[in-house]
Amino acid sequence: MNILQINSSARTAGSQSTQLASKITAKLHERHPHAKITMRDLAINPHPFQDEATLQALFTPKDKRSPEQIARVARDDALIAEIQEADIIVLGVPMYNFGVPALLKSWIDAIARAGVTFRYSKNGPEGLLTGKMVYVAMTRGGLHKDTPSDTMTQYLKTIFGFLGMNEVRMFFAEGLALGKEDSESAIRKAQAEIDAAITWKR
Ligand SMILES: Cc1cc2nc3c(=O)[nH]c(=O)nc-3n(C[C@H](O)[C@H](O)[C@H](O)COP(=O)(O)O)c2cc1C
Repeated sequence: MNILQINSSARTAGSQSTQLASKITAKLHERHPHAKITMRDLAINPHPFQDEATLQALFTPKDKRSPEQIARVARDDALIAEIQEADIIVLGVPMYNFGVPALLKSWIDAIARAGVTFRYSKNGPEGLLTGKMVYVAMTRGGLHKDTPSDTMTQYLKTIFGFLGMNEVRMFFAEGLALGKEDSESAIRKAQAEIDAAITWKR
């Protein structure tokens, strides 16, 4: 059993999404005491953006790549290997300007690779990262869940589903900028939901 935790807050300390993601991982660890846990903090190790040089590296045949292109592709390969090996993926995701942090988008751009993590067949697209469970801890300053401003939930379900990960469980802590009382109560509610979900379900 391999658990991979991805922290995508830009904060390396005091991050609310990281704290909730770590709680999910701790609960999973209780259930799977022998699990190997891999922690990837994108604020500490930001993944490079998918710029023109990256696309050129990816689309250059392996044996024709320059040393720089080999090194760039190897960075994406490492993230792909990490998620391929994971049975459970836990993400901490704050809302930044109505979307996922750019740090997380770079990670997603790295792991979505045609022919490796998804492929197109005569039946349409097929995700190749199958048999995995995804847990997401979402934190927001305002209130967005089940409203048009929450495009993140649909986006994450779409991209994970596209890659073959259809079992996605989300936990929300919202209104964290609305004052101490509301914020503390939202965190407590999310923690209780995590306790209940991971004690009784996979
Ligand atoms: C750069 C930035 C942009 C943010 N944009 C939004 C936003 O669009 N909507 C919102 O509700 N909260 C927004 N927030 C508040 C964060 O979503 C909230 O504070 C979250 O808990 C931060 O998570 P973290 O503690 O893991 O970094 C933003 C915060 C930052 C730092």
